[in-house]
Amino acid sequence: MLLDPARTPGPEMYRFMISAIVPRPIAFVSTRSADGGTNLAPFSYFNAVSSVPPLVGIAIVDRTGDPKDTLRNIRETGEYVVNLVSEPMLPAMARTAGEWPRGTSEFEVSGLTPAPSQRVAAPGVAESAIRFECRLHREIPLGNSFFVVGEILLAHARDDVLTDGRVDPVKLAPVGRLGGEYYSLLREVVKEPRPRISRSTGSPLG
Ligand SMILES: Cc1cc2nc3c(=O)[nH]c(=O)nc-3n(C[C@H](O)[C@H](O)[C@H](O)COP(=O)(O)O)c2cc1C
Repeated sequence: MLLDPARTPGPEMYRFMISAIVPRPIAFVSTRSADGGTNLAPFSYFNAVSSVPPLVGIAIVDRTGDPKDTLRNIRETGEYVVNLVSEPMLPAMARTAGEWPRGTSEFEVSGLTPAPSQRVAAPGVAESAIRFECRLHREIPLGNSFFVVGEILLAHARDDVLTDGRVDPVKLAPVGRLGGEYYSLLREVVKEPRPRISRSTGSPLG
């Protein structure tokens, strides 16, 4: 099969890309509006983009003239929290992704618990084992999305997902997004060492 974007309708290109580029991590983003309402929504166009300073990016698809509440709130306040999604949170996370009317708090809809943040006004999700309190670094229009880059002001990691001070993927039990309404769970972790090569001579390093 070949897909030529010039001849492929946007929704079909979208379905192909989200089924093929998998699994994707999920940023479960909590925000607060200027008038104090809270909002929570998942975004799987998400990744780390820099570590000094620590920056994470999410792409929020444009709904022309009617930005998603997450984008609207980030524009209003310049702040948000990226919460990571672990296996027990999956059903609650999916509930937040309905097109709830503006003003609905997805914390109430999902039964998840707001956790106070230290550096931003937006609450985090108490059930989330890892949370990043973020300040908006830059918003970049890209195609039919707005790429929202946030600087991590404070990272929280619950002790029970750590082994020897590092995040243990088995304990974290991250959920990945596949196409449609499918998700992946972590069932096995494998190690595959990289070759250690001297860049100047090309020979293996002891
Ligand atoms: C697992 C998952 C991942 C999603 N990823 C994205 C994404 O990367 N970008 C996006 O614009 N919408 C994404 N969505 C859809 C939004 O979550 C959805 O439009 C949500 O209602 C937006 O909420 P808000 O208006 O409260 O911001 C995703 C939905 C799910 C269930």
